[in-house]
Amino acid sequence: MTLRSLHAVMLLWAVCPGAQGQCEKPSETNKLNLSITYELPTFTADFPIQNMVTLDGIIYVGAVNRIYALAPNLTKLSEYHTGPLLANETCGQKSTGSGSVGSRVDNHNIALVVENIYDKGLYSCGSADNGVCRRHVLDEDESPKTVDEEVYCFANKGRYGRSQPSDSDVVVSPSGSQVLNVESNVITFFVGNSEIPGMGNILDSAPRPHTISLRKMKTSQNGFTFFSDRSYMDLIPPLRGNYYLRYVHAFHSGPFTYFLTVQQVSKDSQTYHTRIVRMCSSDLMIRRYVEMPLECISTDKRRRRSTDDVKVFNILQAANVAKVTDVELQKQLKVDEDDDVLFAAFAQGKPNSPEPTANSAVCVMSMKQINYLFKRYMQRCDTVDPYHFTGSDKKSCYNVVRAFKLLLCPTLHL
Ligand SMILES: *[C@@H]1O[C@H](CO)[C@@H](O)[C@H](O)[C@H]1NC(C)=O
Ligand SMILES: *[C@@H]1O[C@H](CO)[C@@H](O)[C@H](O)[C@H]1NC(C)=O
Ligand SMILES: *[C@@H]1O[C@H](CO)[C@@H](O)[C@H](O)[C@H]1NC(C)=O
Repeated sequence: MTLRSLHAVMLLWAVCPGAQGQCEKPSETNKLNLSITYELPTFTADFPIQNMVTLDGIIYVGAVNRIYALAPNLTKLSEYHTGPLLANETCGQKSTGSGSVGSRVDNHNIALVVENIYDKGLYSCGSADNGVCRRHVLDEDESPKTVDEEVYCFANKGRYGRSQPSDSDVVVSPSGSQVLNVESNVITFFVGNSEIPGMGNILDSAPRPHTISLRKMKTSQNGFTFFSDRSYMDLIPPLRGNYYLRYVHAFHSGPFTYFLTVQQVSKDSQTYHTRIVRMCSSDLMIRRYVEMPLECISTDKRRRRSTDDVKVFNILQAANVAKVTDVELQKQLKVDEDDDVLFAAFAQGKPNSPEPTANSAVCVMSMKQINYLFKRYMQRCDTVDPYHFTGSDKKSCYNVVRAFKLLLCPTLHL
């Protein structure tokens, strides 16, 4: 099978200056009256902002060393200090034995997730907490709470003080993580942890988070637990520290949960590309897992025949899933107003590097089309073999036996 046949090629929607030509003027006339000075609300954080989520109109901002809660008009309602911390602390608690004096480290916000099932809650996971998250209770029946009022270290209390946090409580990695919660009867947390050579605590005795995993909050609400020992996969040992795998975005659409990654094309290759990973949101172990490369390509229509005019944007920078209201775009994508559409910003990578150049493009593709391609590749047993994960060796056609089940992923009862 050739790699070429595996690519889901996205329709190029707009190529911005730097790539080729100019963006076209928006078709609708601009509704802003430029002779009026608009007073827009602003908020300036004391530290770089890294994540943002909203719940009931409140905006929660994860920054270096701080969590902020903002009103819809961006007035600061409360703030919580997550750092700087001494190295080797877990939620500000030193592990015993290490009477460690040392320099303080900044706590970068790796993940910020809201939850609405048990109580209203916010999870903030930092780079300096040994992978453990903190849970901010925001509301218990009566009055809304500030973000610093009731904060727990989300790890089995008996353990984190005395020794390392348990495997299932180690959620995020300093190399970067994508955390997504899916709420049905239980809240399932899907987590993808980036593996960046030369980064992370390879020499540390600190526990390493699993590369891709799903877990639930314990009913005792003091930590996470895995559904089974098949609820996670790791990069195979020879690749750890030698293989670039970055989780860029996570989202759900229909009955599926998706991750978007940038990674090496193969373990022996120094070229990089983008992949889309799909799992069933209702699975409690990693069972119906499939991945497929995703490419954003532009062709110059005037000189279509010349291959020189085909530009491949291989490195995903950011993505979002949304509905499309623009009728023209609906027509082009063959979608209805209720269909999910993936908007993805790509860059051309530097040669043999995951680093982006200034050439970038935004591609759009309907999730319907992406799922159709998954189906086609699975039927042809043409999906990418996830050889890079534990448990997948020698299964050259990892998904085919499950292919038909995969298509019948049950819908979630939300
Ligand atoms: C824009 O605002 C100016 C100043 O308020 C006003 O005189 C003008 O009529 C406005 N133009 C439009 C198109 O609304
Ligand atoms: C912004 O919203 C908050 C809370 O709703 C309110 O207390 C404050 O007065 C508002 N500030 C401005 C400038 O409108
Ligand atoms: C962190 O703690 C571990 C285990 O307690 C210890 O082996 C290691 O030396 C400590 N590292 C630092 C920088 O204090």
